[in-house]
Amino acid sequence: MVKVNFVSADGTLVQSVDVPVGTTMMEAAKELGLREIPADCGGSCACGTCHVYVDDVWWEKLKIKENSLEQSLLEYEKDYKEGVSRLACQIQLNDDLNNVTVKLREHELL
Ligand code: FES
Repeated sequence: MVKVNFVSADGTLVQSVDVPVGTTMMEAAKELGLREIPADCGGSCACGTCHVYVDDVWWEKLKIKENSLEQSLLEYEKDYKEGVSRLACQIQLNDDLNNVTVKLREHELL
């Protein structure tokens, strides 16, 4: 199992869930019913509604692939932040990511 932590946009609330290896971060968010991650396209890298901010200490392990479809989609997001933004549906969880932390966007931005 892999533990995933989601921090609210204002930093005040952390919600955690344990999911099996191979689950995506978006699916972990759905387990918690997080409204900040509606994941409208179901994980096919098409909607951008699973956009999260990766905690600094995890960025090395979760760097976005250059020139990927994910990067192209994220760069159109109004709240895109280089070196921080990822799409949760494109992050597959493995043992190296146990206890990973990401920050949610403001729900109003969605
Ligand atoms: Fe649509 Fe991730 S769920 S881009």
